[in-house]
Amino acid sequence: MPEPQASPLSGPLQQSGANDAGERQQADPAAWLDGLWYYALPSSQVKPGAMVTRTLLGETLILCRTSEGEAFALRDICPHRGIPLSCGSFDGREVTCCYHGWRFDRTGHCTAIPSLTDDQRFEFTKIRTRRFPVAEAQGNLWIWAGAQPDVLPPPPQVPEMHGSQQRVVETQEFPCALDHAVIGLMDPAHGPYVHQSWYWRSLRSAHEKAKRFVPSDLGFTMARHKPSRNAAAYKLLGGDLETEIAFRLPGLRIETITAGRHRFVGLTAVTPIDMNRTQVTQVMYWTMPWLNLLKPVARWLARQFVGQDRAIVTQQQRGLAQRPALLLIDDADTQAKWYYACKREFARAAAERRPFVNPVTEQVLRWRS
Ligand code: FES
Ligand SMILES: [Fe+2]
Repeated sequence: MPEPQASPLSGPLQQSGANDAGERQQADPAAWLDGLWYYALPSSQVKPGAMVTRTLLGETLILCRTSEGEAFALRDICPHRGIPLSCGSFDGREVTCCYHGWRFDRTGHCTAIPSLTDDQRFEFTKIRTRRFPVAEAQGNLWIWAGAQPDVLPPPPQVPEMHGSQQRVVETQEFPCALDHAVIGLMDPAHGPYVHQSWYWRSLRSAHEKAKRFVPSDLGFTMARHKPSRNAAAYKLLGGDLETEIAFRLPGLRIETITAGRHRFVGLTAVTPIDMNRTQVTQVMYWTMPWLNLLKPVARWLARQFVGQDRAIVTQQQRGLAQRPALLLIDDADTQAKWYYACKREFARAAAERRPFVNPVTEQVLRWRS
């Protein structure tokens, strides 16, 4: 059967190939999947009656919250003459364009054209600016990419922390295409180099690791295990630790650390801004009350970590500008291969209107880090 066109992807898929040294990278690194939730921003950044602007998924958006507390997102363009709606105002109910005063409700439909005289009949309700579905959970606001299905799935949630509030959020813009940011999330071999520091790891502390992976919802999970003994920051959380790391499309990493009856969860979410820029957000939740005192430390650590990843992909851009062929090796890059396989399968399943069949099989991966 011929490969279906990758219509749910925003960019072309290249053919995969292999060589002796490893597998070549397989897809347009800027392509993102439609039909999934992407992290937009923390809910708290959109107050009732507020209008904030963001560029996400290649679109400039306004994100607003009504006086009643309902969030919505519209394309930041007035359908009349194209001025950004964000140049206008929002009264907690409707957005008013600053040019001719046309008004738009939370569904993007035009509700008023002030220049019309009483006897002029004009079907302004047919005029609309594009609305993007949004959903909120656990203090996060998510935006849906692509056409809205009849029934939207619930937005992503971190496990077993239902109703919890987020403690620390760190967002940074990476000057790279989506895949390079996503692959950094699951790359086990860069730790001792990129995150080398007294509180995390050093080259000297690197040792061989073997981790069991199982397929999980839209991705795979590094099964529950004792965290690396070479990560000093883990020691902060106390003695008897276990960690589990789940990855799922479109670029979400959820690390759940249990420490006795307490829990610490890190969510890392990657959202394309456009073809060349990617938003990376780290959200931390915890149940240990004493950790609240160390919130500034947790924030500093998050900023350091994300900043180190940002610095390395910024340097990487200088090489990628020459469009080199890239390699993915076993086993250190097997998760990156799985990411590409999941992405391809998701696109194919959407094109064929069938459920996603997880291409990942249970496996132990070994590497030194
Ligand atoms: S451009 Fe917005 S109302 Fe005219
Ligand atoms: Fe990293």
